[in-house]
Amino acid sequence: MNIGVIGTGYVGLVAGACLAESGNDVWCVDSDAAKIERLKGGTIPIYEPGLPEIVERNLREERLTFTTDLDAAVKKSFVIFIAVGTPPAPDGAADLTAVFQVAAAMGRAMDRYKVIVVKSTVPVGTSEKIREILKKETKHPFDLLSNPEFLKQGAAVEDFMKPDRVVVGADDVRAAEILRDLYAPFVRTGSPVLLVDVRTAELLKYAANAFLAARISFMNEIANLCETVGANVDMVRKALASDSRIGPAFLFPGVGFGGSCFPKDIKALIDTGRKHKYGMQILEAVDAVNQGQPARFVEKIRKHFEGNLKDKRIAVWGLSFKPRTNDMRDAPSIKIIESLLADGAAVAAYDPEATDEAKRIFSGRIQLSSSNYGCLEGADALLIVTEWQAFRNPNFERIKGMMRQPVLFDGRNIYDPAQLRQHGFTYYSVGRT
Ligand SMILES: NC(=O)c1ccc[n+]([C@@H]2O[C@H](COP(=O)([O-])OP(=O)(O)OC[C@H]3O[C@@H](n4cnc5c(N)ncnc54)[C@H](O)[C@@H]3O)[C@@H](O)[C@H]2O)c1
Repeated sequence: MNIGVIGTGYVGLVAGACLAESGNDVWCVDSDAAKIERLKGGTIPIYEPGLPEIVERNLREERLTFTTDLDAAVKKSFVIFIAVGTPPAPDGAADLTAVFQVAAAMGRAMDRYKVIVVKSTVPVGTSEKIREILKKETKHPFDLLSNPEFLKQGAAVEDFMKPDRVVVGADDVRAAEILRDLYAPFVRTGSPVLLVDVRTAELLKYAANAFLAARISFMNEIANLCETVGANVDMVRKALASDSRIGPAFLFPGVGFGGSCFPKDIKALIDTGRKHKYGMQILEAVDAVNQGQPARFVEKIRKHFEGNLKDKRIAVWGLSFKPRTNDMRDAPSIKIIESLLADGAAVAAYDPEATDEAKRIFSGRIQLSSSNYGCLEGADALLIVTEWQAFRNPNFERIKGMMRQPVLFDGRNIYDPAQLRQHGFTYYSVGRT
């Protein structure tokens, strides 16, 4: 099948590459000409395990084409996915500018019947607006479907290739069948393809992210209480996780969630509630707890240094919002580092994949190392902010030998407090005393 994917970011690039991998001819479109040039040369602008190999193979076998020419891609394609960003507007609502721009451009480019699929995460009712825009721009018939994406950055290829479920929101069953066929190679092991109406598809994507975010904020709140009353959140978590009604996922306390999805999707869902005069009370709390978590972490650091961080040298391990990605959008590391800098501390940091992103964000205000040990020389404290696998079993004697003072603030609870104290560290973590 001929497929167009508009927007070649984390979602569009993975979707386009994986759809080409299953034999389709895919045109990936982006308005960012520099990005398209790099992609044409086989350079992947994001870190996503397994993606370079698939892009390279499908470029070579000429099933994957990168272009800035939306018009040509629409004309060539039968099914066209919209996968552009829906970032937060200042009031928390999803900014749909790119989605509507793309819809209008697609309408102008259409020359016959097309199946148009909204993959971007959009608030309930957006597809109806897209339909109106398309109708204004074209006389040609089309079907409009909603197909929210559930991939996780860091495991995006795997998730796309083997999804837990595929959701197809359609008001027309025949059009839905076209998407079902397209996804058939990815659901051979029996994952369900859920056919729902368009509004339900739009809402359930937000509900899924909001629920996962709620679990994290819930655990963070319990961890904060553990600190206050002298209980151990590790054991609380294990007890909850082993309850078959609860399960283990998304129960790790820490410095809060970040990334391009959870924070913005919660705010957008709260905004949807507001617009329909329904207060999303749980989500307001999920957001508030999350906002407080990095500040609480910084407060521990301030308290240890008796309120004086001036000229303290702080080493930070982990900058991306989670392991296995270079994405720093809304990463807790940014809030934490900005607070430390505002207090007069000097920051040296290391991340396995996000160095370029960090250079862009902090533009020379922090030192960036090319190895985890490289940022430790003369440090007064080491902070664990992202739980990359490579940080889990370091040489603690070497760390201690390089630091001015062996003080460790573990924002992800990756170390054992007793073991760290045995190594001679003053050790702080989340929800464990
Ligand atoms: N990142 C995730 O893990 C994830 C998971 C599921 C759903 N989503 C949703 O998918 C959507 C895309 O997310 P993302 O992380 O891939 O975003 P992104 O910012 O990484 O990529 C968006 C791409 O769209 C391009 N673009 C913007 N305007 C354009 C236009 N007018 N024409 C052509 N291209 C244009 C940008 O240049 C960029 O390359 C969002 O709605 C997001 O909420 C993201």
